Amino acid sequence: MSGVRVRSMRVNDIDPALALINDYAAEDRMLERTRDFLVDRIKDFQVAESPDGFLGCVALAALTPDLAEIRSLAVRRDAGGRGVGRMLVDSAVGEARRLGLKRVFALTLVPEFFERCGFTLVSLGRLPEKSAAECPICPKRGRCDEHAMLLHLDGTRPQRLRPEEPVGYTKLVELRS
Ligand SMILES: CC(C)(COP(=O)(O)OP(=O)(O)OC[C@H]1O[C@@H](n2cnc3c(N)ncnc32)[C@H](O)[C@@H]1OP(=O)(O)O)[C@@H](O)C(=O)NCCC(=O)NCCS
Repeated sequence: MSGVRVRSMRVNDIDPALALINDYAAEDRMLERTRDFLVDRIKDFQVAESPDGFLGCVALAALTPDLAEIRSLAVRRDAGGRGVGRMLVDSAVGEARRLGLKRVFALTLVPEFFERCGFTLVSLGRLPEKSAAECPICPKRGRCDEHAMLLHLDGTRPQRLRPEEPVGYTKLVELRS
């Protein structure tokens, strides 16, 4: 898409980003966010814009000195399918590199999109930093339908999900019990 650029979020972007995220959240396609969350995390966020205005957003949250999560990725419906989502992910990954992080992951309902961005489908069990801290308190606990997608920034390929491995945290717990 021509004339699109990705830049750091500013306070004026908070309202359009919040509206977009929560519009998709109402369809259960991503997690709902509050204005306080965006204000608090504004430095994590980047936005895509064209000369006509806001197109989408993404956040990169560092969870450990080694691992970061891509969150709140959303592209306006009327801008979809033209590479804006990939631009946002590439920019978040670039930020992770700049920070010296080694791995970036996303929990998502659209694993095919992240595959197209170079990520590999893995078991959530391979991301204990995430699952141990947040899965037990997640509103989707017991009905997790998200896929864990992982990118190694050193160019190595993560171990792809094997047929015998559980996809998510719920199934891990079920297997153990
Ligand atoms: C998922 C989303 C961010 C994709 O944004 P987009 O700008 O339409 O994606 P792009 O045009 O950059 O697509 C990049 C590639 O992924 C593919 N792709 C995009 N969405 C896809 C989907 N839902 N399923 C499969 N492939 C998809 C594109 O065909 C393209 O493939 P290519 O490499 O052959 O060109 C956007 O549809 C969205 O905001 N969805 C709702 C919210 C959401 O699901 N967010 C993710 C939360 S983790």
